[in-house]
Amino acid sequence: MNLSEHTRKKIDEWLLRYPTDQKRSAVLQALHYVQEENKGWLTEELMDAVAEYLQLPRIAVYEVATFYSMYYLAPVGKHVINVCTNISCMLSGSTEIVEHLKKRLKISTNETTADGKFTLKEVECLAACAAAPVFQMGKKYYEHLTPEKIDKILDELEKKNGE
Ligand code: FES
Repeated sequence: MNLSEHTRKKIDEWLLRYPTDQKRSAVLQALHYVQEENKGWLTEELMDAVAEYLQLPRIAVYEVATFYSMYYLAPVGKHVINVCTNISCMLSGSTEIVEHLKKRLKISTNETTADGKFTLKEVECLAACAAAPVFQMGKKYYEHLTPEKIDKILDELEKKNGE
């Protein structure tokens, strides 16, 4: 499988930031581009294509893709809600946050709503501990969460995008 021309161009632009023998430095960004183009998730073929394009062993790409929670190795919904359940968030109520999201979205963690709009995940520390409890959706962090705040966030999203 080949990467699209669009993705190759973006990776090439990113590679300009590094010495030519440091292509490994572009793995995170390359996976991000590829994932974005593939409806938010990575297939084995796409990871292999990234490895081939960057002339790296496949394992160098797999270890990155499987280590970071921002990469998804199975199909996900349009919006992925990553709830931090690490220590600061846990002490600040992340269990209640996860339970509320499960109830509201009618799914368990690692599941996607029937309409394909939301996927719910629990992740490790999002480095926003002072604002615990926290979740990340897309590029945005939502902080000091409460069930009421979550309802407002999701209501507004539904209103804004007809989501
Ligand atoms: S523990 Fe949740 S952001 Fe650090």
